[in-house]
Amino acid sequence: MKTEPIVILSQREIEKMRQAGSLAARLLEHLEPMVQPGVTTLQLNDEAERWTQAHGAKSAPLGYKGFPKSICTSVNEVVCHGIPNARQVLKEGDIINIDVTPIVDGYHGDTSKTFIVGTGSPKTQKLVEVTRECLYLGIKEVKPGAKIGDIGAAIQEYAEAQGFSVVRDFVGHGIRNIFHTAPDIPHYGTRGKGKSLRAGMVFTIEPMINEGTHEVEVLSDGWTAVTRDRQLSAQFEHTIVVTDDGVEILTEIK
Ligand code: MF3
Ligand code: CO
Ligand code: CO
Repeated sequence: MKTEPIVILSQREIEKMRQAGSLAARLLEHLEPMVQPGVTTLQLNDEAERWTQAHGAKSAPLGYKGFPKSICTSVNEVVCHGIPNARQVLKEGDIINIDVTPIVDGYHGDTSKTFIVGTGSPKTQKLVEVTRECLYLGIKEVKPGAKIGDIGAAIQEYAEAQGFSVVRDFVGHGIRNIFHTAPDIPHYGTRGKGKSLRAGMVFTIEPMINEGTHEVEVLSDGWTAVTRDRQLSAQFEHTIVVTDDGVEILTEIK
């Protein structure tokens, strides 16, 4: 639980978040065509690091609480925080979430997408599409006066109605010149509960949706979170700002 006060960003800070968010979106777009059978997650990492530096930015994950690489690459049963590795070769039918967070002029843009390597089974396609929809249903709830619980409720209702489960152990987070800060944004919950949203709040929504159990375990590397039943998990993430009349997605190519 993050208990520090929730900060309202100034217009100047929101503009910096737009710059960082836009670079993050472009980085994901740059990496997408590399997602092919035969590529290693380390190759994705190294290209992300090179491109980030070439654009004058820094990779927030690198060295964050000891994380060893520049992006997270979470394949199949990996829920989040997968560590890129030279021995991990993508194959047809795998799913991979790529999560990037460049820092531009001190501010963070945090976004991720799940890609299917090649085509994938109908069930895999459904999981990925439902997870993408969960993110956008959560975003649609955001406006001044709405409650944090409204976001999670919308996501949980849809995910569970589609036969999937919502990860509890990882949540969205406030973000600015700090990578992870208040508020926590659970992807499950109850409408009308939790703190009220106000214009100028900036946070991520990043639902992790599982085929089977919602339960997660962290491997002995201290980072890699996997589903307990080793069934698939997908995730999509945007960084958003609450506006006077609703929401602006900061990690979108405009
Ligand atoms: N980008 C992840 C998030 O969405 C955080 C990664 S932290 C790291 O919050 F250390 F694993 F990189
Ligand atoms: Co992220
Ligand atoms: Co995040």
